[in-house]
Amino acid sequence: MNKEQTITGVIRGTGACVPKRILDNKEIAGFVDTSDEWIRERTGVRRRRIAEKETTVSMACEAGRQAVEEAGISPDEIDMILVATGSPDQIFPCTACRVQEALGADGAVGFDLNAACSGFLFAYNTAQAYITSGICRTVLVIGSESISRLVDWTDRGTCILFGDGAGAVLLQAAEGKTYRPAAHSDGSGGAALTGPGVRNRIRSIDKDGRESKTEYITMNGKDVFQFAVRKVPQVIQEVLERNELFLEDIDWFVLHQANARIVDAVARRLRLDIGKFPMNLQDYGNTSSASIPILLNELNRKGVLKKGQKLVLAGFGAGLSWGASVLDWDLER
Ligand code: COA
Repeated sequence: MNKEQTITGVIRGTGACVPKRILDNKEIAGFVDTSDEWIRERTGVRRRRIAEKETTVSMACEAGRQAVEEAGISPDEIDMILVATGSPDQIFPCTACRVQEALGADGAVGFDLNAACSGFLFAYNTAQAYITSGICRTVLVIGSESISRLVDWTDRGTCILFGDGAGAVLLQAAEGKTYRPAAHSDGSGGAALTGPGVRNRIRSIDKDGRESKTEYITMNGKDVFQFAVRKVPQVIQEVLERNELFLEDIDWFVLHQANARIVDAVARRLRLDIGKFPMNLQDYGNTSSASIPILLNELNRKGVLKKGQKLVLAGFGAGLSWGASVLDWDLER
């Protein structure tokens, strides 16, 4: 083993699953006061997928199954299943246990992890920690969301943004360079983007027999926008410095797909060509913790990613939370 080489988690397979139902901007404009043009200009989103029959579990299972299949391993080789989700079908059993059963990953321990739209990145870092420490050899990391169920479909400020889906990567221990991630949380900014609380799921009945209002996602769009365009370039610079790399060393910047204007602003602030920032949010909207693995899977299946290329993954979202990680792409297609 070369001195620089250590044991690291290498992506051996990817997968994704999105619901069949397509909801385009024109259809949204039929039930809230908005327009296709407004949504496209302010967000870049043209359409999104909405889970009808699909669930957070079913999409996670399908994305995970594809990643395992591409890796060419048997499910009983999986040591751990991590599912990042902020919209599980149930609080428990956790989504990961359901995936474990469905895939027949009898030897795997599974748990869910919620860091909203940063969830996949933080789950990926967690998987790397288990692999580099030697505790696990094979970890399936999934981001899966039915976030449309948490959205207030009468609120034009939020309902235009989100979509459902799942993505997965199968990590396996191999000789390679271990990169240190950069990740942060700032709970003081939490009010900028919130989801429903458990206490609000138990609806109370008032004295007139009316049910209390169920909570939905609330967001201060401007605050979240400013947070993202300030913190994402910073954390990308931070992760590169930590690993003694430069912006020029990176082939692809795979960012959480929240808004095309955020991705554009990050590229501009870093003085980088927007072509290095692949996007698919026009088709899926913001799928929260699923966006990075759905995009990775698309780039992998299209053969855009080449063995030996360096990627930066960057996530950000509610918490507030944000982070970035570096990886060497090692899949040949
Ligand atoms: N259609 C038409 N008009 C809309 C609208 C919609 N869907 N949503 C808001 N507006 C209106 C507002 O009511 C406001 O009208 P007013 O000037 O008469 O008060 C006007 O458009 C401007 O609203 P504003 O909120 O300032 O727009 P914006 O340029 O900030 O865009 C977002 C709104 C939500 C698209 C933008 O703030 C954003 O993308 N933020 C980041 C959100 C995000 O990525 N969240 C997830 C992070 S993980």
